[in-house]
Amino acid sequence: MNEQFHFSYRIFPSIAALSTTDQQLVEQATNAMQHAYAPYSKFKVGASLLLKSGVVIQGNNQENIAYPSGLCAERVALFYAGAAHSNDPILKICIVAEGDLTSNDSYISPCGPCRQVMLESEGRQQEAIEVILVQKTGKVFLLDSVQNLLPFGFSK
Ligand code: THU
Repeated sequence: MNEQFHFSYRIFPSIAALSTTDQQLVEQATNAMQHAYAPYSKFKVGASLLLKSGVVIQGNNQENIAYPSGLCAERVALFYAGAAHSNDPILKICIVAEGDLTSNDSYISPCGPCRQVMLESEGRQQEAIEVILVQKTGKVFLLDSVQNLLPFGFSK
């Protein structure tokens, strides 16, 4: 028997086409990105989370001379949310990036371990987390749930 996995996502031609809330999230993620500590990869990533209470959390990648000791922007933000706002569901995560690794039409898409952590945040709160991915050109991809980014994610 063949099974299929489909999901739809929305594309916005520019940040200006987003809702005011989403535009503000992009701004917060961009602000966070500018403060990333990425001297080794020179690839700066920023993430912003909108919590149900209205609180916005920012994260950015934090690198280290012992390379694997660093952490991605998404997990810095998600783990801080878990540490300081554990009962406040995450409604949205917005991710932006700039640096040598991006061509004009590429966009930041979370790495596997970040997807796994995002998926568990979604599972814990039993409420979907919307994912906003911003291309260097300003084009935006909007996904309704982290589940779309990690079918067959690990769980016990
Ligand atoms: N990085 C992130 O912060 N998020 C991702 O989703 C992918 C990669 C960071 C890790 C490292 O500091 C740099 O980008 C280059 O891989």
